[in-house]
Amino acid sequence: MEGYLFWRLILQIFFIAYRGPVGYSHEVQKDLQYNPKNQPHRTAYHFQPPKNWMNDPNGPMYYKGIYHLFYQYNPYSAVWGNISWGHSVSYNLVDWIHIEQAINPTEPYDINGCWSGSASILPGGNPVILYTGSDFRNRQVQNIAVPKNLSDPYLREWIKSDHNPLMTPMNGIDPQFFRDPTTAWEGPDKIWRVVVGSQIKGHGTALLYQSRDFVKWTRSHRPLHFSNKTAMWECPDFYPVSVDGINGLDTSVQGTGTKHVLKASFNDRDYYIIGTYEPETDTFSVNPDFMDSNVKLRYDYGIFYASKTFYDSAKRRRILWGWVLEADGEPDDVNKGWSGLQSLPRSIFLDKTGKQLSQWPIEEIETLRRKEVNLQNKEIKGGTMFEITGITASQADIEVSFHLRNLDEAELMHPEWLDPQFLCSEKNAATGGVIGPFGILALASKDLTEHTAVFFRVFRGHDSYVVLMCSDQNRSSLREEVNKSAFGAFVDVNPVEKISLRSLIDHSIIESFGGEGKTCITARVYPKLAIGNESHVYVFNNGTESIRISNLSAWSMKRAQIFPLHKRRKPEID
Ligand SMILES: *[C@@H]1O[C@H](CO)[C@@H](O)[C@H](O)[C@H]1NC(C)=O
Ligand SMILES: *[C@@H]1O[C@H](CO)[C@@H](O)[C@H](O)[C@H]1NC(C)=O
Ligand SMILES: *[C@@H]1O[C@H](CO)[C@@H](O)[C@H](O)[C@H]1NC(C)=O
Ligand SMILES: *[C@@H]1O[C@H](CO)[C@@H](O)[C@H](O)[C@H]1NC(C)=O
Ligand SMILES: *[C@@H]1O[C@H](CO)[C@@H](O)[C@H](O)[C@H]1NC(C)=O
Ligand SMILES: *[C@@H]1O[C@H](CO)[C@@H](O)[C@H](O)[C@H]1NC(C)=O
Ligand SMILES: *[C@@H]1O[C@H](CO)[C@@H](O)[C@H](O)[C@H]1NC(C)=O
Ligand SMILES: *[C@@H]1O[C@H](CO)[C@@H](O)[C@H](O)[C@H]1NC(C)=O
Repeated sequence: MEGYLFWRLILQIFFIAYRGPVGYSHEVQKDLQYNPKNQPHRTAYHFQPPKNWMNDPNGPMYYKGIYHLFYQYNPYSAVWGNISWGHSVSYNLVDWIHIEQAINPTEPYDINGCWSGSASILPGGNPVILYTGSDFRNRQVQNIAVPKNLSDPYLREWIKSDHNPLMTPMNGIDPQFFRDPTTAWEGPDKIWRVVVGSQIKGHGTALLYQSRDFVKWTRSHRPLHFSNKTAMWECPDFYPVSVDGINGLDTSVQGTGTKHVLKASFNDRDYYIIGTYEPETDTFSVNPDFMDSNVKLRYDYGIFYASKTFYDSAKRRRILWGWVLEADGEPDDVNKGWSGLQSLPRSIFLDKTGKQLSQWPIEEIETLRRKEVNLQNKEIKGGTMFEITGITASQADIEVSFHLRNLDEAELMHPEWLDPQFLCSEKNAATGGVIGPFGILALASKDLTEHTAVFFRVFRGHDSYVVLMCSDQNRSSLREEVNKSAFGAFVDVNPVEKISLRSLIDHSIIESFGGEGKTCITARVYPKLAIGNESHVYVFNNGTESIRISNLSAWSMKRAQIFPLHKRRKPEID
């Protein structure tokens, strides 16, 4: 603690002395930190800018030992507007250094906003950014920016090309529906390809562009993919995954041993499809397609949007970032002084079944784990619960494996129960069952007036068991104005073996991973009572059948070091 106070003092001296370079808009004095009294919902180990509005993650990349994250940022307030590219750098994807904005609206082709885009690493290792500009006529166009000084390890300054805009809305492209270029990939013909999100004749479309030099881009006569079951696709992402193993692949890898994933953001959700890509003809074949079957695959069945992946060549993995919106109102955001989180970075890979992706928080997150409690082989009788004590419940990482002894009595699954989210609101945590609901009550007040229930229920289906996973926010907060709708999804696991849950709790966010990352649900909650040390976490079973915890580990989580550059201690930078 002494160390902490010492640094507070040093920082206060900084506050007084520091004025900041011209144009640097993270005002030091208003840097917000978690505080149970006036910032109880600020997070401790999720990425947030010092203050104000943040939405989509942009251009994540790894370059010469440093991770870069850019993000849609309003330097002036906690609501959307004046969008520029915020920029932060990290050596470990956990601790972040905020530096000056990388791209600001300054030119006729981006004066109304520097919107989302992606980074690509060119041969020779040089990074470039493609981003959408909202131009002086409010048309959407695609632009390029490159680092000014490749010897600057943080790549602080980016210069926009004289050739901008590189792509403009022509030949039937609606200027309002032309945005969010992907990371580029190179075909066997040495031609670069990039996809831009669009809506053509009302159909969500991934427009395909090709270039030899990254400056002159030609639109392909056929889009990479489209769907007449959805409208506008925002923030498309297109990348290969390995068919065996969890290693990630560089975006330009194609051919044997790979499948390709296309993600599109629409209806406030991130949906994906898995298929086969043939670079010779630029055809992408999928089955099922978006919205085709009952299984509508999503990265996350809670609050998670406009996500983007990148290939981390240092650890040979593909990492996913997603924007986690607030579920409170705009006046609350103005009051808090901030809006929007990034999810924890997650490794993303093809599941063993080949039918879906799985995700897991990157291993570096585990370096924040502190005090640990452990228990094995504990029975929880129907209608009972117990508290996990000895950890900081409002800032925690919890892993638990459930073993179900007897599934004979499982409730019957009705064939018309197709919508798991609806099922979770009908059969919420308070509605008793047979096999479940069982799981955890997170960010709970001592008397349970407030709690968020993350739980499972097992049904007997036609020829197999069906596992439902829910995050029920109904009683998450005494505050009325918060959106408390329930989230839910099915988990493709065999409950006879085990059902596992990992939940990462961070004051106003609960990121939950069911079935070892097969099903992810992120919730935002704003407790009034269950804050700071008044927050508890319980394991509960509201089914009639006993269940057994085969293994439970829970950790307090340390705060991550997420600060503007001038507030950091030297040793942590080097
Ligand atoms: C955008 O910035 C201008 C000042 O540069 C400010 O007057 C305006 O309120 C800002 N809009 C938003 C939504 O932040
Ligand atoms: C480029 O960055 C390096 C490392 O920070 C610095 O030493 C050099 O002076 C910079 N060059 C220019 C032209 O700014
Ligand atoms: C939608 O597109 C599919 C092919 O992708 C086609 O078979 C079908 O007829 C189309 N439906 C409509 C309503 O346009
Ligand atoms: C468990 O069920 C009982 C009876 O239906 C209910 O009163 C209680 O609130 C439920 N527990 C939770 C955590 O929802
Ligand atoms: C609350 O959130 C749900 C799920 O994201 C959404 O469907 C619903 O429209 C939201 N309700 C309001 C009033 O915003
Ligand atoms: C919360 O639960 C109550 C009682 O079950 C229900 O009437 C209400 O609709 C639920 N609210 C939400 C947002 O699900
Ligand atoms: C809880 O935290 C408050 C300050 O945030 C402190 O005053 C109080 O002593 C703490 N209570 C316990 C039981 O640690
Ligand atoms: C229990 O889970 C923890 C965390 O996943 C793991 O490290 C430990 O080995 C497990 N213990 C047993 C007995 O399975």
